[in-house]
Amino acid sequence: MDTPGLRFTLAITGASGSAFGVATLRRLAANPQVARIALVLSPTGKRCLLDETGLTPKDLAALPKVRLMDERDLGADISSGSFRQDGMALVPCSAGALGRIASGVSESLVSRAADVCLKERRPLVLCLRETPLNRIHLENMLRVHDAGAVVMPIMPGFYSGPKGLDDLFDTFATRVLDQLGLREDDPRRWKS
Ligand SMILES: Cc1cc2nc3c(=O)[nH]c(=O)nc-3n(C[C@H](O)[C@H](O)[C@H](O)COP(=O)(O)O)c2cc1C
Repeated sequence: MDTPGLRFTLAITGASGSAFGVATLRRLAANPQVARIALVLSPTGKRCLLDETGLTPKDLAALPKVRLMDERDLGADISSGSFRQDGMALVPCSAGALGRIASGVSESLVSRAADVCLKERRPLVLCLRETPLNRIHLENMLRVHDAGAVVMPIMPGFYSGPKGLDDLFDTFATRVLDQLGLREDDPRRWKS
């Protein structure tokens, strides 16, 4: 029988801003509605994670509910539409990952799992991190948007008066969880 609770996939791809992915992972792990998080890192994602946070995939796998997946394993459960899961976020999403998803190139577990989310009409959140953007990036963003993804570039808001970088990462994580359908209380939300 299917286990109760929500299941999500979090991918960390090879772009700057892996700390935003770590903050999102921590928030997913702490959410009582979430039963399982499949964590996938691209090879450059691993490198950026280590360079920018000093963390390894093994460190992240120690968080509760996290199942670390091998990026090359196209036989992993999240590779199949028949496996029940509730959405996926790429935080950060490289321009390369965006391009592969936009063209339906499913040669890795990240791009295949994202492709499955689109075909099964499940939430797919792409937190693109690249600047400046060329025409190909802009066109790819429109393509994935039209296919059902949410394009959510890493552009944190400053109106909540962040006390530091962790606060900034965490406020952005709240917005990613919103897009996955997990609307958590957060005192940093805008109040007029
Ligand atoms: C240290 C480092 C930082 C990078 N930062 C970015 C970035 O911010 N945005 C981006 O789109 N690509 C960035 N790249 C390039 C991508 O990692 C590269 O295009 C890669 O093929 C993307 O594939 P992936 O999504 O499977 O990781 C960076 C690469 C390195 C080595």
